[in-house]
Amino acid sequence: MGLTMGLNLLLLLAMVATNIISLYHLSSTLQSKPPTPPPVPDHLIRQLQTIRATINHLTRLQPSSTTTTTKPTKRTIPSDLLLYTHISPIASSCRVHPDMLHQYMNYTPFSLCPLDSDLAEALILRGCHPLPRRRCFTQTPPKPATSLPTNPFLNLPDNANIWNKYTCKSFSCLSRFNSDLGFDMKVEKLKFMSYKSDLDLPIQQLLQIAKSSHSVLRLALDIGGGTGTFAAQMKLQNVTVITTTMNFGAPYNEAAALRGLVSLHVPLQQRLPVFDGVLDLVRCGHAVNRWIPVTAMEFLLYDVDRVLRGGGYFWLDHFFSKGVDLEKVYAPLIGKLGYKKVKWAVANKTDSSGMKNGEVYLTALLQKPLSK
Ligand SMILES: *[C@@H]1O[C@H](CO)[C@@H](O)[C@H](O)[C@H]1NC(C)=O
Ligand SMILES: *[C@@H]1O[C@H](CO)[C@@H](O)[C@H](O)[C@H]1NC(C)=O
Repeated sequence: MGLTMGLNLLLLLAMVATNIISLYHLSSTLQSKPPTPPPVPDHLIRQLQTIRATINHLTRLQPSSTTTTTKPTKRTIPSDLLLYTHISPIASSCRVHPDMLHQYMNYTPFSLCPLDSDLAEALILRGCHPLPRRRCFTQTPPKPATSLPTNPFLNLPDNANIWNKYTCKSFSCLSRFNSDLGFDMKVEKLKFMSYKSDLDLPIQQLLQIAKSSHSVLRLALDIGGGTGTFAAQMKLQNVTVITTTMNFGAPYNEAAALRGLVSLHVPLQQRLPVFDGVLDLVRCGHAVNRWIPVTAMEFLLYDVDRVLRGGGYFWLDHFFSKGVDLEKVYAPLIGKLGYKKVKWAVANKTDSSGMKNGEVYLTALLQKPLSK
């Protein structure tokens, strides 16, 4: 009994924590002015009561009692979900989407998993992360790829990917749809190589900057790195880069991995899955931008600080926000880190949404002090 209560409490704590994050997450779509820290609203309290009720319900139902109910209905909790909740807590946001969660966990154990990576993606994006584990075999591409590329800029083999859920059935189709998605290797080969405006930081210049301050670049993290082109270019410089990437409508994770690059399928709101003070460089591409609520952004920045070693670099690459917010919100926020500004370039964002919203780009290279 004591154990169950302890587990309940643990679950509850985990849920409260993730719920607060998901509140921030929700506020992202509404945000147009600098937000104030969210108060604890009534609906969260009501949500907590629901969570409590769910926990009670879940812990009352033992896995053995459900193995007899083999016909899952909409109201039946899948037996493997029940079993799993006794092993490990589930993120509260998972429970906010019970239909999706139940669909995800409704599979036949020890057999082939459903082809539902888009469902997994949708749950993760709603804050249901980490996803519960499952006891089934994930489907792999139908026939083995003839040969996987050893150079990250060679064309990707189409038969090494499962295309079921995509309209496109090949990487070249994705490139034709939009050559800038990261699947056209002719385009990718040129990225990070040239200086077209002050917002660019070519890799040769980055290496030169590090070298001149006697700082070595060996290990880096690219947050929201698409198909991993930054990692690919750095690989040619013998620098190891791990890339976090989501599958927004295209197989970014598969593509990065097919290029021989380490891709981590983690959303932006997740604590970076590396230890304190271990990285020489963290880069944020333009997936990190004003759409992230400011408080979530703060947590992100301090997590970047956590994983960087003293003397390590933080590269905000084409971060965009409203001009006034950069001045009033983001620049002070970044300033609080106390990093040395190696590069700080701001320019108008001249595409249609940039013009409409008065947005600017910031590219900054910042160096973490050796001791604080
Ligand atoms: C990377 O390492 C390989 C093997 O040690 C070496 O031949 C190559 O010159 C290195 N490249 C760079 C850019 O340092
Ligand atoms: C940037 O845009 C602002 C208006 O949003 C304008 O006043 C300013 O002149 C622009 N700067 C440049 C360099 O084009």
